[in-house]
Amino acid sequence: MTVQVIASAPGKVTLFGEHAIVYGEPAIVTAISRRLYVKTALRSDKNLKISAMDLKIPGIVLTFISDTGELTLETDYGRVVSAVSYIKKAVELTANYVGEMKGANIEVRSTMPVGAGLGTSAAVAVATVASYAYALGYELSQREIAKLGHRTELEVQGAASPMDTSIATYGGTLYIKPRTGEPIIEHLKLKNEYPIVIGYVERKSTTKELVAKVKRLKRKREEIISTIIRLIGKVTEEAKKALLKGNVVEVGELMNINHGLLDALGVSTKELNDLVYAARQAGALGSKLTGAGGGGCMIALAPGRIAEVSTAISIIGGAPMDTQISAKGVTVEIQK
Ligand code: MEV
Repeated sequence: MTVQVIASAPGKVTLFGEHAIVYGEPAIVTAISRRLYVKTALRSDKNLKISAMDLKIPGIVLTFISDTGELTLETDYGRVVSAVSYIKKAVELTANYVGEMKGANIEVRSTMPVGAGLGTSAAVAVATVASYAYALGYELSQREIAKLGHRTELEVQGAASPMDTSIATYGGTLYIKPRTGEPIIEHLKLKNEYPIVIGYVERKSTTKELVAKVKRLKRKREEIISTIIRLIGKVTEEAKKALLKGNVVEVGELMNINHGLLDALGVSTKELNDLVYAARQAGALGSKLTGAGGGGCMIALAPGRIAEVSTAISIIGGAPMDTQISAKGVTVEIQK
C-alpha cells in the first residue's frame, strides 16, 4: 500500500512590526488555528502531480528533467503560476538538499483563504518541504525546514523576511529580529488570553507590490519613512514587554499606534480602515491591519467582545473569522 505523508502548517497573523521587519526592525507574529495541509505520496516515475482545489489548482503535472533537480512543466498552467511556484520550488530545493529526486502526488488543502495575508504561501512552502522530505525518508529538523521554506519564498518572491516561514515552522508566538545570517527568534510565553477576531476584505495588491511601494516612498522621503519604520520597531519592543506582562490594555493601545504608522506608510485601504475603526467602536481594545495590507486582513483584540466585534465587521462588508492564537507549528503524520 502507498504510504502518504501529511504535513500541516499554521497560518499566521502579525501582531506587530510588518513592513518594518523588511528593514531589520523586529516583529511579533503568532500562529493561528487555521492550517494548510500538504499530502505527499511517492510515485515510481519522475512526475510531480499537484492538485490543490482550495488554491484553485485542479491538477498539474511537472517532471524532473535532469539530475540538477529542476522541475519542468508538462502542461500549461497559465494563471495559477503563483501558487504552483511555491510547491515546485519547495520540492526542487528539498530534493537537492537531501540529494534524491522522486516523483510524487501532492495534494494541498487549506482551511484559510489564500492570498489574504495569513501567510498561506509560507505555510505551503514549509508544509511541502516537510511532507516531501519525510516521504523520501528524511525527518528534517525545524531549523532545516524553516531555512528551506524561507529559501523557497526568497526564490519565488525575490524578497521576503524570514517571519512567515519561521512562524509556519515553529508555531506559537515569536519575536523575530532579522540579522545577517540567521534571524534572532525568541518564543514568547504569553501571560494572558488574547482573544482575537480576524476581519477579511478583498485584497487589491500583492505583498510584493506593497513592499515595493514602501521602498519607493522610503527612497523619496528617506528621513520621514525611516523614522516611521524605526518607530514601528519601538512599538514592537514595547508590545513585547506588554505581552510578557499580560497587560492586554497596553497591547491594544500599541496595536492602534502600529496601525496608524502602517497607514502612514500607505499600505492600508479605506475598507481596512473601516473595519479597524468599526472593531474599536464595538469594544475592541485595539485593532490594526495585519500582513502586507492593500486589503486582506485586520485583527482586533477583543476580550469579552468577540461576538460584537465580529458582527460589526460583517455589517460593513468584512468577513469575520474566529481563531485561536499561538497554535502549533509544522506537524507531520503518516497514513498507511
Ligand atoms: C507580509 O506578511 C509581511 C511583510 O512584512 C513582508 C515580509 O515580512 O516579507 C509586509
